[in-house]
Amino acid sequence: MKKYEHLEEMYESGSVPWDETDPPPEVIDLAAKLPAGRALDLGCGYGRACIYLARLGWQVDGVDFVTQAIDGAKLRADQAGVSERINFHQSPVTQLNFLNKPYDFALDVGCAHGLIKYEFKAYHQELLRLLKPGAVFLLFAHLNKETEGKNWINENDLLLIFSQGFHLEKVEYGQTQVKDQDPWRSAWFWFRKDL
Ligand SMILES: C[S@@+](CC[C@H](N)C(=O)[O-])C[C@H]1O[C@@H](n2cnc3c(N)ncnc32)[C@H](O)[C@@H]1O
Repeated sequence: MKKYEHLEEMYESGSVPWDETDPPPEVIDLAAKLPAGRALDLGCGYGRACIYLARLGWQVDGVDFVTQAIDGAKLRADQAGVSERINFHQSPVTQLNFLNKPYDFALDVGCAHGLIKYEFKAYHQELLRLLKPGAVFLLFAHLNKETEGKNWINENDLLLIFSQGFHLEKVEYGQTQVKDQDPWRSAWFWFRKDL
């Protein structure tokens, strides 16, 4: 099954493991350290990070290509009373020409690891265009196992592509387990756009 149809089916069936009220602690910690500005959430899902940031005074753009995700995110932002601070866009994260720079912060919790290499390069070019010099890009991604094919992100490819225009300030490796599935290697990356 293709990636889009698989994700759409997850939303339609209500099987959405990332459907939590709050974003992950790494997002919450970073948001507490940054002054509010313009933020971009790539693969925003139901918008939990967008809503969290909007409550802190950020102006946020959330992008996701699944209709159900965007519809749900709009509804939740309305219910949270922050819809005037968030614009949700239904689009692939590789084609963001409807967005204008500059953003102070971008985040991606679990979206880019599904992109194939040429899509990932387009995604990187969009971040390069949209982020302010000095802005943080926070990425959570599943990583390929050394022994595995190309299911998720190849860390060497990621670091090579983001060596153009960004520097890596910090990385934290971990494991992610979703329900009864086998655990995946994963990592949080804190990139900063070059000045
Ligand atoms: C693991 S979910 C996480 C959602 C959200 N970031 C969160 O933490 O709640 C990844 C999201 O990325 C979206 N996504 C995956 N590939 C995408 C693409 N190429 N363009 C836009 N959205 C995409 C999916 O529809 C899904 O909602």
